[in-house]
Amino acid sequence: MADSAAISKPVILTGAQPTGRLHLGNYLGAVRNWSAMQNDYECYFFVTNQHAITLPKVPAELRKNTYSCLAQYMACGLDPEKSHLFVQSHVYGHNELAWVLSCICPLGQLERMTQFKDKAKKQISVNSGLLFYPVLMAADILLYNAHVVPVGEDQKQHLELTRDLAEKFNATYSPTFNVPEPYIGKAGARVMSLQNPNSKMSKSDPNQLGTVDLIDTADVIRKKIMSAVTDSEGSIRVDAENKPGVTNLISIYSAITEKSVAAIEDEFAGKGYGDFKKTVADAIIAVLDPVRQRYDELIKNQGYLDEVLKAGAEAAQKTAWKTLSKVYRKVGFPERAR
Ligand code: TRP
Repeated sequence: MADSAAISKPVILTGAQPTGRLHLGNYLGAVRNWSAMQNDYECYFFVTNQHAITLPKVPAELRKNTYSCLAQYMACGLDPEKSHLFVQSHVYGHNELAWVLSCICPLGQLERMTQFKDKAKKQISVNSGLLFYPVLMAADILLYNAHVVPVGEDQKQHLELTRDLAEKFNATYSPTFNVPEPYIGKAGARVMSLQNPNSKMSKSDPNQLGTVDLIDTADVIRKKIMSAVTDSEGSIRVDAENKPGVTNLISIYSAITEKSVAAIEDEFAGKGYGDFKKTVADAIIAVLDPVRQRYDELIKNQGYLDEVLKAGAEAAQKTAWKTLSKVYRKVGFPERAR
């Protein structure tokens, strides 16, 4: 927990894998919300480069993507003056706590994790890091005694495990950890692929036109929106079943402009898809263009990014040491003489 002397705000924490480019779905569904929370919470935001190597990575790319990930999040508004921005491998304690937690974590629970099973299926040989992954994630969260953790659907089970481990540790030793709550983003922010509007917008979409990247240029965004799949009916209204493409564009437009669906349907009554798409593209460009410009500035300035990471790691490390020494004391490890 935070120092009792400090004004304690609830702690919000989340981690992101350094996987290249973020897209519009990540922005509307997640990052935009976090930026808005920075004043009300003590925020820890970090790049999970240790989680990243559970699947094979090219070292030079991993390093480059770590900076790019940080710069993209900062371009979206995560502010080093307000939040602790850092890289997982810069802070000692994540792995140490993960080890302690692994010793109270039943193997069966890890083997039953959906994401482990899915990922393991795709590997020729499964490394034990992939199995251990959720324990490290639990440590990431508990190390800072997070109250709230924004996660996507796919990470909810890992958060459940985190809660289980926190409760088990508290019961086995004595109350130590907050039991964190998931933070589920605003409804309606589920962005679908522009080319296959029945599946989520995803960076692994084989069709590049399906995904609007955060750092796409205005021309590229326009091209992608203008070629988004629609239907032959010609009317602009929500009907997820029969008109998933148009419905997706409406919900993107609604998420960006905060206009209601009804207002949007009114606005475009009697208009064609061409006009509608042009308006949607303009709205996206209006929010993403400044993001891309900030990104371009930031990514050129690695010295500055390094400073941000240094300050972030220093602040995070203080909390990490505190939690870790408390945990070590509780499990019966003697303190190292100074
Ligand atoms: N597993 C998360 C993902 O792939 C990343 C992650 C690692 C994380 N540690 C975390 C997310 C702690 C939230 C909190 O998206």
